[in-house]
Amino acid sequence: MNQKVLLTGGAGYIGSHVGLYLAEAGYDVIVFDNCSTGTPESVFFGELVVGDLSDVELLLHTLINHQISKVMHFAASISVPESVLRPLDYYDNNTRNTLNLLQCCNKVGVKEFVFSSTAAVYGQAEENPLKESSITVPINPYGRSKLMSEWMIQDAGQASNLNYVILRYFNVSGADSKGRIGSYSRNANHLIDNACNVVLHHQSHLKVFGIDFPTVDGTGVRDYIHVQDLALAHIAALNYLENGGSSQILNCGYGVGYSVLEVVERVKVISGIDIPLVIESRRPGDPACVIAHAEKIRHILDWHPHHDNLDDIISTALEWKRKNVSIK
Ligand code: UD1
Repeated sequence: MNQKVLLTGGAGYIGSHVGLYLAEAGYDVIVFDNCSTGTPESVFFGELVVGDLSDVELLLHTLINHQISKVMHFAASISVPESVLRPLDYYDNNTRNTLNLLQCCNKVGVKEFVFSSTAAVYGQAEENPLKESSITVPINPYGRSKLMSEWMIQDAGQASNLNYVILRYFNVSGADSKGRIGSYSRNANHLIDNACNVVLHHQSHLKVFGIDFPTVDGTGVRDYIHVQDLALAHIAALNYLENGGSSQILNCGYGVGYSVLEVVERVKVISGIDIPLVIESRRPGDPACVIAHAEKIRHILDWHPHHDNLDDIISTALEWKRKNVSIK
């Protein structure tokens, strides 16, 4: 019998890639998703349970019904600016719902838990690249909601048989290299999405949020990771736990930073289309520079990325959007 894995948020951008690759690796996938931002179209394999993590009864029933002992927890709200405007929604959907999930996992004796965390837990880095041991002082509610979730997972792990891998994502973009899946979100507003939207004439210009950061050209610097490499890191994390690995916190990035203007330049070159820029002030809650120290994950999980170049990230994202023109 195939091994079952429950994916909360498995109809979303990253969860759906992981679901596809898990199924290809021979797992049975059960997706638990409220489909608020994710879509059933992106669940290729396994069963979709449409539900919210606040519905503890349904969640518990799903875990028991499918005899789940492995969970990957993606479901979350993920926009930094939105979290600044609606902080309590973030503590509700990210922190409280993670507590619900952990309580249910505890009841049914889940053993392996992989959690989608974020580089936003580090806040404004004093040192770059950021190590997993670097100080965590998040500067927005999104980062705080995720850091609190990390603490709960660590405490639950201490007090029970739950073993976990917390993956701290840096800036995720791109799409499946075979073009089967990508971002379905109609309101994705991250940099590469927005730049692709200009190329495809869904928007007239790209706003640059801040040109006065203490960085190479004054714009924000980020470590962009291809979604396919990130997804495969989840499967490596699960295999590691299945083989008796101890709980870990691991950065998911490549250890290379690009500024907003550098990203825009690559999008222009790859697409051959000009991208008009409008300079805006900084977004609240945006750090200047966020780059991963990316060695620990390679060492612990024996994870080797295959798409660690910015052009690959941009071209797969652009190709996906071009083919799925209804997604803006
Ligand atoms: C992203 C993720 C967040 C994740 C974090 C990890 C999104 C929406 N957010 O945040 O979930 O936890 O990485 O570090 O994917 N920018 C512009 N113009 C735009 C959009 C962005 O100038 O139209 C700039 C931003 O100010 C920033 C950089 O581009 O300097 C990257 O921004 P964005 O793609 O939104 O990602 P983060 O906010 O870094």
